[in-house]
Amino acid sequence: MNIEFEAYCDKYLVEWEKRATVRTKPRTRLTESIKTENMFVFPLKPFAGHERFEAVDKQQIQEFSVRAACNMFLGVSSFEVDFVTAQCSKLAGAGIGIELPDSAKRVAVAIGTDEMYHAFVANECLADIKRFTGIVPVVQDAGGPADFNARKPPLEHFKQALGPGNEALAEVTLLCFLENNFTEELYGIAKGQTAESQMHTIIREHVMDEGRHMVFFQRLLGHIWASLTEELRCTLGKSMVDFCDIYLTLDEQTVMGGYTSTLRQLGLSDEDCITIARDTILKDGLLSKSDMPSIVNPKHLMKVAGVLEHQPTRDLMLASGWITDEAAVAA
Ligand SMILES: [Fe+2]
Ligand SMILES: [Fe+2]
Repeated sequence: MNIEFEAYCDKYLVEWEKRATVRTKPRTRLTESIKTENMFVFPLKPFAGHERFEAVDKQQIQEFSVRAACNMFLGVSSFEVDFVTAQCSKLAGAGIGIELPDSAKRVAVAIGTDEMYHAFVANECLADIKRFTGIVPVVQDAGGPADFNARKPPLEHFKQALGPGNEALAEVTLLCFLENNFTEELYGIAKGQTAESQMHTIIREHVMDEGRHMVFFQRLLGHIWASLTEELRCTLGKSMVDFCDIYLTLDEQTVMGGYTSTLRQLGLSDEDCITIARDTILKDGLLSKSDMPSIVNPKHLMKVAGVLEHQPTRDLMLASGWITDEAAVAA
């Protein structure tokens, strides 16, 4: 048994008791002021300063901000309930075919508890938004890297790559990646906010728990990786690199798709959407793969879990451009 992982889990449980929002803090509630204030304008941030964007009516922006908040809460709620909590139950109950310390199973229950609470808060916010504004979430059409409409769902990717008999490994691998990325997304939103709003207070309360989750899933992946046969490590490592290639590459087409779908929600004409999106890409430039913000957390996860120490996987990351020689040495 992995003594270090077990000790970490014991410590996690002490921290959870002291700091988990469900244990320690009364939650923030939305108030009627959301009828007039900007709730969530984070997705519009890249377009700030563009002439055609700045000309958009303030009322339009405010309505967008409420709809964007709605969609964000719906995303949180379904991600937590349908995926994370379901996976935590598996870790704590039937297992994933890899031996886990009892304390790790208790952490999985603690995290599942946090996630159900986050979903509860998100659902409550959705009900409040509906009550105050009449706005309900809509399912988005196309979108950025978090939108899998155009591609097969990432869980299918891992299941197909790992083959029959490894379904639980596929699920837990995706769980580790998503818990790391989701936290970063929330953290980016909380960090980028200067003016205080109820919405951002609620996001910050969520992030406080997710920071702890993120580290647990890094440790868990490290524990799993160390338990695998070399053959399975090669297969899993390749599936991780392919995951990054398929879902995390922020090329021109992906960024353009994400931007235009956001701008369309402002009721702008197709021509305005395309012009603003194209000008924003030109202004900001496109990053090389190793510098894309979408790879920062997955790379860190793979590094601390020991995946990047695995030569065949590291070679694939290098060949794909996700890491440079220098970074590989540092890893
Ligand atoms: Fe959460
Ligand atoms: Fe989480």
